[in-house]
Amino acid sequence: MFKSENSKITGFTYLRFVLVLIGDLGKEISGMSKVKARQRVALIQGGMSSERQISLSTGQAFAGALDELGYTYQVIDAGPDLPDQLVKLKPDVALLALHGKFAEDGTVQGICEYLRIPYSGSGVLASALCMNKYFTKQVLIFNHIPTPDFELLRFDEKNLDLSQLTKFQYPLVVKPSRDGSSMGISICQSKDTLQEAVFLAGKYDREILVENFIPGMELTVPILKDRALTPIEIVPEQGFYDFRRKYTAGASQYYLPARLDASLLEQVQELALKTHQACQARVYSRVDFRLGPDKVPYVIEINTLPGCTPTSLLPKAAAHEGIRFSDVVRILVEEASLDYREWGA
Ligand SMILES: Nc1ncnc2c1ncn2[C@@H]1O[C@H](COP(=O)(O)OP(=O)(O)O)[C@@H](O)[C@H]1O
Ligand SMILES: [Mg+2]
Repeated sequence: MFKSENSKITGFTYLRFVLVLIGDLGKEISGMSKVKARQRVALIQGGMSSERQISLSTGQAFAGALDELGYTYQVIDAGPDLPDQLVKLKPDVALLALHGKFAEDGTVQGICEYLRIPYSGSGVLASALCMNKYFTKQVLIFNHIPTPDFELLRFDEKNLDLSQLTKFQYPLVVKPSRDGSSMGISICQSKDTLQEAVFLAGKYDREILVENFIPGMELTVPILKDRALTPIEIVPEQGFYDFRRKYTAGASQYYLPARLDASLLEQVQELALKTHQACQARVYSRVDFRLGPDKVPYVIEINTLPGCTPTSLLPKAAAHEGIRFSDVVRILVEEASLDYREWGA
């Protein structure tokens, strides 16, 4: 009796052990295959844009998070040999720590599409679109999203015709259509400085955007996992949010959440998400706003590879919601994808 009872218990325990083992093994295998599929990461940083230094900071922060998460990764500096480097390395996924031209504009994304390497963030079309402030505005207008009135100027230093700008009142904003980090941007208080501003912007791009200056509050709304995070208010110590005030500690103050009433905060979040979706941005982005005196939130631009050091704005907004920096990086790796699933599909 003892024996049978004993054997019954043993049999039951054994059966349970086997079932648990199978279950765990199943979980383990699916978990393993998921982790394994994304185990070898190419961390692409640097690049050839005016935002190279910012990219190196983002890359360093990403590397720290990848270490913490236990990924195997290789750092690649994006130069003309990027395709060769990727072909040799054959990574499971490309984590893009790049910003600006030859990076945020669909060019790197195109290389990854060709090599069938899933990459973080937006696809080719959205990246190219959002890098171009002029075309972004066309999409915003089509989707009834408020954006400052503007005019596109094709820069020709020998034949500069500014007559098309007479409709604007001062101050007005002059900026390269395809750059970032406030490079080449001027706020013109009067006609006297217009030509100088156009020449400065012309150093960065042949396509120059001239737009109405919106005097109100500066806001930015990070999007993560296709969800709008809490809006951040930016108060530069003086002047506008230029390169120095963006990247010098203490040169700007940040309020998280922005000092707006709940309904306006919600409205800004809705507009940010609408912008992200209208531009077909993927996984994450950051939408910049100025709040007009009429309380209209005007979308200034959308960034598809926003700065991502632990002190950057997107990680700050994520932390506000309990999402750690390493979680942000894990999301970017796990959600990395391709525009086309297979050749021909
Ligand atoms: N229409 C505008 N009205 C007021 N300020 C502006 C306007 N456009 C740009 N700015 C100022 O210039 C900064 C950079 O402009 P933005 O269009 O976001 O270009 P970038 O891609 O360089 O960040 C903004 O954060 C804001 O401070
Ligand atoms: Mg901006």
